[in-house]
Amino acid sequence: MARLLITGGAGFIGSHTCLVLLEAGHELVVLDNYANSSPEALRRVAELAGPGAANHLHVIEGDIRQPGDLERAFTAGRAITASAQSANAAGIDAVIHFAGLKAVGESVAEPLRYWDVNVTGSRQLLAAMAANGCRTLVFSSSATLYGYPDTVPIPESAPVCPINPYGHSKAAVERMLADVAASEPGWRIASLRYFNPVGAHPSGRIGEDPNGIPNNLFPFISQVAVGRREQVQVFGGDWPTADGSGVRDYIHVMDLAEGHLAALEVLLAGEDQQLTLNLGSGQGHSVLEVIRAFEAACGQRIPYVITSRRSGDAASTVADPGHAKSLLSWQTSRTLQEMCRDGWAWQSANPDGYR
Ligand code: NAD
Ligand code: UD1
Repeated sequence: MARLLITGGAGFIGSHTCLVLLEAGHELVVLDNYANSSPEALRRVAELAGPGAANHLHVIEGDIRQPGDLERAFTAGRAITASAQSANAAGIDAVIHFAGLKAVGESVAEPLRYWDVNVTGSRQLLAAMAANGCRTLVFSSSATLYGYPDTVPIPESAPVCPINPYGHSKAAVERMLADVAASEPGWRIASLRYFNPVGAHPSGRIGEDPNGIPNNLFPFISQVAVGRREQVQVFGGDWPTADGSGVRDYIHVMDLAEGHLAALEVLLAGEDQQLTLNLGSGQGHSVLEVIRAFEAACGQRIPYVITSRRSGDAASTVADPGHAKSLLSWQTSRTLQEMCRDGWAWQSANPDGYR
């Protein structure tokens, strides 16, 4: 059992990861300001984790940019009784840092907000970690760092060439983490570059609940299926791909959550280290394939229209997940059909998300 601080734990990926961590027997302190989530997600996580789980899930409403809120989270960690395996007598053993802003278009319109929350927020978190003697961190990075990749599948050694403020903010945090790790011994850090997380817990109780019109393909398709939107716009039918639509590496959010558990276990068991790992399946699917798979899952036709390309899109981004497989002994196991089945279980049972 470890005592973990989960920033942004009420969000899409955070909530699914909290469930996996509780089921693995860990004690969690979640710090979230609900800027893009609902407390209901964590209530349902506790419900899914079973009787008594709520005693192992400590929730603090607060902002990662506020030192006082971070201190409240570390104080809550110290109040949790340590187990024999717990490494850090001072409290929190490790942090998983999900909190941040992630909408590309919004980052172009409001860059300073992205630098503030993603970069300054991470800096405040690192300072609080150091002050509290906690130097083990799993960070939510993104495949968006690769911009327009030259090589597909993309290895971690591919150039970091972000093409929007969101991507630059993630690259800046990765840089900051490398500098901090080099500054003193004791840091154990994993930057996980996620490809395209989709789907939901198979119960349909927790899932992705975007504010407003979804920017991403999968929640958009789900909302068309449930009748909230009329049709999907397929951004480009003339890409150099098998069917002309864009190809991405979709990863089931439960596989991604299990990837965090694997990374955490490797960090906690090892010496000082810095890992930078792609988390993806290594398999690409086109927009039209995703639409067809979702139609099969929901048993109805998804109307779509092929429009012009979206600016900033690449034809194909697919992970080379080889390093994660060898270093974490982790790989994805869930198919596109399962992503659509579970995404539909969530969307059909919660047409308006957590509201
Ligand atoms: P999300 O928006 O659902 O979750 C982020 C959580 O952080 C939310 O609960 C939000 O309320 C919280 N938060 C935001 N600002 C905060 C602040 N200042 N203080 C405290 N909490 C704050 O997003 P997600 O999809 O779960 O993504 C989690 C992380 O993974 C993000 O850092 C994101 O950039 C990264 N990521 C996501 C994707 C994706 O496609 N979903 C891909 C790559 C990387
Ligand atoms: C987008 C972001 C990326 C971010 C990721 C997760 C852009 C250019 N990229 O990635 O930086 O890390 O989300 O938040 O915004 N598509 C449609 N119709 C839609 C939506 C998408 O055809 O309504 C297509 C896209 O062109 C793409 C695929 O579906 O080919 C996946 O798109 P999306 O879900 O937005 O993910 P990314 O573009 O990979």
